[in-house]
Amino acid sequence: MIAIPQKFLKQKMNIDKEFYQSIDCDALFKKIAMTQDPAHMVQLLFAEFPLAQFWRFSVDGKKQMKDSWPGFEAREPKYLQGMYSVWLAMLEEINTPLNSRGLLNYHFIATQHVEMKRLPDELKGCWRKEDVHFGLLDDNASVEGILALLDRIEIGDDTFLLARDNVSLVEEIEIEQYDIINSHTYQYVLNDKIDFLVRKRGMIQEDPKTKECAKRLLAEFILKHNYSFRTQQHEIYKLDSSETAIEIVTPTFVVEEFLQDRVDELIRLHYKRMTIANDSEQKLSIIVDTVQKLEQLHPFKDANCRIFVMVILNKLLLENGFPPCMLYDPNCFDAFSKEQLIHEVKVGMKRFQDVLLNDKQLENAPTVDVLSHEMDIYFKKINEMLRQKMEEILSGNLKIEQTFLPTFNISCTEKHDVPGIPEQGNKSGLNEKIVQLTIT
Ligand SMILES: Nc1ncnc2c1ncn2[C@@H]1O[C@H](COP(=O)(O)OP(=O)(O)O)[C@@H](O)[C@H]1O
Ligand SMILES: [Mg+2]
Repeated sequence: MIAIPQKFLKQKMNIDKEFYQSIDCDALFKKIAMTQDPAHMVQLLFAEFPLAQFWRFSVDGKKQMKDSWPGFEAREPKYLQGMYSVWLAMLEEINTPLNSRGLLNYHFIATQHVEMKRLPDELKGCWRKEDVHFGLLDDNASVEGILALLDRIEIGDDTFLLARDNVSLVEEIEIEQYDIINSHTYQYVLNDKIDFLVRKRGMIQEDPKTKECAKRLLAEFILKHNYSFRTQQHEIYKLDSSETAIEIVTPTFVVEEFLQDRVDELIRLHYKRMTIANDSEQKLSIIVDTVQKLEQLHPFKDANCRIFVMVILNKLLLENGFPPCMLYDPNCFDAFSKEQLIHEVKVGMKRFQDVLLNDKQLENAPTVDVLSHEMDIYFKKINEMLRQKMEEILSGNLKIEQTFLPTFNISCTEKHDVPGIPEQGNKSGLNEKIVQLTIT
């Protein structure tokens, strides 16, 4: 255990006892009741945290007992090292509010040494240059979440669209002639044709009675048919003036500049909204909303989920006296509703408490046999560095400005499929191969 400096004597920050009780985290509350500021909270929380369990912040809860962190390492060598580095960077500057420059820096720290098929070096620490898309599947989307997206389309938000996966624009237009309602025309059809279309296309047996009912059926249809969420900054699809065809409008703006402005605006709004929030529930709702908007903007070509949902979400929670959270499935931020996300985050906070208090009872992460020796050395090395750096942070005695863990020389010697690695939803189209690592 690490001693807390004496200078932290009395509480200044508002830690909401009732909130902690409502999520069954009384024990956690007792530890941090006297928190002065976010840095102090980090000290109180992590002084007794079992650092051997720190990897659980960076591996989806539902993957922790499957192939776990070795699985992550196998797909993206040095994943955990990048995540430990960015977590430490985030924790050591927890008293400084987020800004977009810091965000780019976090992305760079988390990815710079990681071997990522989908993220070339020149895009590490940079905004993406093209549109992205991800599938809407049962684990990252819900009917309520899609309804919220439809509401945004309805009020004229054209920064994204929902479309059938793996279908080119031309095909989509063709499908549209014969088939289903497509979000390109959603705004148009909603006004006077939606219930007609819903009936006509056989989505249900009975007539939708109200617009709300029709929208819900549409959301169910979208989820059932694995539509994808597409960002839409590079090419914007519009109905032409006759409202019979879709035309592609290529904006003249630069995607990176658009993203820079959007991220700045989301962060500015976040802090402004936080100043007028009345209670913990409102604050949590704002935090969840900001993180979801950032995740849905998907400003990086890859590694959005780990930056926004694993790191930034926890930063914003800690800034406001909430416990950090370990989510069962961080992908839920893609397209769950706000209420569902708040529930997931609360469950994740309780999971953090469980790890903090029940270290001994936790089962170890299963290792993938073929990797176990090398991974063991790697894991011990990064944990040792984590411990050293955490001691500096907890003692308030930082030696280095920026946190970078030293690089290991890890080389890929073999590539093969490994049984036991569960099939992913493959929402990003990643090729799920495993790589054998050698650490020297
Ligand atoms: N190396 C990996 N192995 C297994 N799952 C991963 C790996 N890297 C990321 N994931 C998972 O893929 C999802 C997306 O994460 P990430 O790559 O950070 O963002 P993006 O949404 O931009 O692809 C998350 O559930 C994350 O836990
Ligand atoms: Mg990814």
